[in-house]
Amino acid sequence: MSTEEKVAKHYTHGSLETTILAGLAASGKDVDHLSIDDLAGIDEFHLGRREATREFSRDLGLIDGMRLIDIGSGLGGPARYMASTYGCVVTGIDLTEEFVDVAKVLTERCGMAMQVSFRQASALALPFADESFERATLIHVGMNIEDKAALFAEIRRVLRRGGVFGLYEIMQVRDGTLPYPMPWAMTPETSFVRSPETYRRLLDEAGFSLESEQDRSALAIRLAQEMRASAANNSGQTPGLGALMGERAAERVGNVGMSVGNGLLAPIEMIAKAV
Ligand SMILES: C[S@@+](CC[C@H](N)C(=O)[O-])C[C@H]1O[C@@H](n2cnc3c(N)ncnc32)[C@H](O)[C@@H]1O
Repeated sequence: MSTEEKVAKHYTHGSLETTILAGLAASGKDVDHLSIDDLAGIDEFHLGRREATREFSRDLGLIDGMRLIDIGSGLGGPARYMASTYGCVVTGIDLTEEFVDVAKVLTERCGMAMQVSFRQASALALPFADESFERATLIHVGMNIEDKAALFAEIRRVLRRGGVFGLYEIMQVRDGTLPYPMPWAMTPETSFVRSPETYRRLLDEAGFSLESEQDRSALAIRLAQEMRASAANNSGQTPGLGALMGERAAERVGNVGMSVGNGLLAPIEMIAKAV
């Protein structure tokens, strides 16, 4: 099995659509007319969830009608948020077929299918012509991709000159051994977490100029604390991502939280311009 097949298998749940729609219905949502806020607890598969997406999108210079590609779009939460908030036209691609299928269903049920579309594809072979987009985003995906030089070259290819590439990635910020399982990989075999220095160098080599960089650890830690408190209060929210993650979900979430808390990992935002 190739690394990509292993990664897609890792994320495949098997009955995600039914589980999500049943959970939403049980928490009183109208599943035929969903809003992006109805989904915020389950469709943002990254540290800091919706709040992180909000902060990140602010830094992308998005405007109405702009074409954006979200690479590794998952269930489509960030794609729908950016389309709905800024009016851009978003194309999401993801390796995991089931995520693409569910992303499409949720988008249709939000009435956003004209503005947001999804397609199954590898980030290393984007099925788009050169310079098709003005913006590209990569949110918590690089941890599953070993060849980041090829990834950034492919992203540079589909971006117009002067376009912006925003990435929000988990990076290793000091020496140490990562605990497994992690949310993105059960073992180190499909985990390729790298340092900010490596990201900076590879971005430069691929034809990007780094405009800004921010460590979002404080936001991720605060959000994780709030989520634990809300779970403890049994606040009647829709079942969260943990319920959708499958095997050893609590341990995986705990390991990444602990690693951010002890300064081994950090969720880092980088905004780079295509030169
Ligand atoms: C942790 S999830 C993040 C999903 C989404 N970006 C979000 O923030 O909600 C990682 C996603 O990256 C996708 N992925 C991993 N490797 C990929 C690759 N080589 N090409 C495309 N997608 C990939 C996975 O299928 C998964 O949906």
